[in-house]
Amino acid sequence: MKILVLGSGGREHALAWKIAQSKRVSKVYIAPGNAGTASVGENLAINVADFQAVKDAVLKNQIALVVVGPEQPLVDGIVDFFKNDAELKNVKIIGPDKKGAQLEGSKAFAKQFMEKNGIPTAKCFTVTVENLNDGLRYLETLETPYVLKADGLAAGKGVLILNDLNEAKSELKEMLSGKFGSASAKVVIEQFLKGIEVSMFVLTDGENYVILPEAKDYKRIGDGDTGLNTGGMGAVSPVPFVTPDFVEKVEKRIIKPTIQGLKNEKIDYKGFIFLGLMNCGGNPYVIEYNVRMGDPETEGVMTRIDSDFAELLEKCAEGRLNEAHYQASPDTSVTVMLVSGGYPEAYKKGMKITGLENVCPCCIVAHAGTKLDGNEIVTSGGRVIAVTAHGKNIEEAREKAYHNAKMIVFEGKNYRHDIGLDLINYNA
Ligand code: AMP
Ligand code: GLY
Repeated sequence: MKILVLGSGGREHALAWKIAQSKRVSKVYIAPGNAGTASVGENLAINVADFQAVKDAVLKNQIALVVVGPEQPLVDGIVDFFKNDAELKNVKIIGPDKKGAQLEGSKAFAKQFMEKNGIPTAKCFTVTVENLNDGLRYLETLETPYVLKADGLAAGKGVLILNDLNEAKSELKEMLSGKFGSASAKVVIEQFLKGIEVSMFVLTDGENYVILPEAKDYKRIGDGDTGLNTGGMGAVSPVPFVTPDFVEKVEKRIIKPTIQGLKNEKIDYKGFIFLGLMNCGGNPYVIEYNVRMGDPETEGVMTRIDSDFAELLEKCAEGRLNEAHYQASPDTSVTVMLVSGGYPEAYKKGMKITGLENVCPCCIVAHAGTKLDGNEIVTSGGRVIAVTAHGKNIEEAREKAYHNAKMIVFEGKNYRHDIGLDLINYNA
């Protein structure tokens, strides 16, 4: 079987790396990919927003299964495009249809879905210019801090958490007047949830599901969770407070009602559900749904899957996920993201990357923002390379990951030094 992975980040490198290990897979293609994905498969120079170009590549290369990495093509309806095309109808694709992708594409849709299906989440109120005054009054009923979310996709920047009521009111007005473009024409005001976050990943065929390894992501740029938000600076898997009891609550209160809710809405969902959860005193609440895997969580999660991942994906796309074999490794993985100096603000690109050959083969190096420039590998994004190491516990995995992260050199390299530290001896 030939598999095509759409996307170009660390997530896609990790997905392609894992898929390429399967005996069922004769070749992996990645579109457009990066310098790292070129080492596990063949990169295709395609813009994934151009569905016709994706179709041409699928037919030309006789692709049997497509895995959609990022959310944008899903929100734009790539799965519906495949289902409605006579020549693509039999090509398997991992991802929800356009309506299902609204779980990520519209915060207001996701909140309504959760309310309708009794899924625990923060209380909220949805505002547009028409009911701005109701929104301002709703803010007054909340305790500080105030959470404002742009309804649509805003490249991870659409959530504001504010301590001051007046600031929250003026930000609400600015958002509605286009602070995040059309993504914030609608704003969800939310109650602030206190707790510790965890990312859980479910693969579902719309009926059956498998819970993949969970991970904790580190979103802020600076050590000790300081500074600006980023796409994610590192990850740890498993997460100590995700006990069997916690997982049981997530299954009963969140996963099962979510899948039932999708069925009720007649949503065709064969793909990943990423649950962004807040653990509030042992009880899980949904902060957000994503309809794809997390980045950088995937870089660690893929290394903890011990079974044939391509089989899991194939059976998922066929609606036979219950027949697939799934096994997770008992190891702990720690992922450290190396980023460009200045990120998440302005940064330079094109910096030569050296020292990759000095990284222990026991580590998994996923390229996030790299490209080939002649024979050299150079930086091409804010997040550059994710180094993942395994150990029997967080300390051991951290030591290996950091030791090897130091081997990779490029001008301006920055990373967090405290990935996983908060979870050592963590008591829920
Ligand atoms: P989102 O894009 O919805 O995941 O929000 C981005 C980040 O904002 C989350 O990862 C949380 O750290 C934080 N956040 C979002 N909603 C809430 C909430 N209701 N309570 C506390 N923190 C939140
Ligand atoms: N790591 C968070 C995300 O992928 O959205």
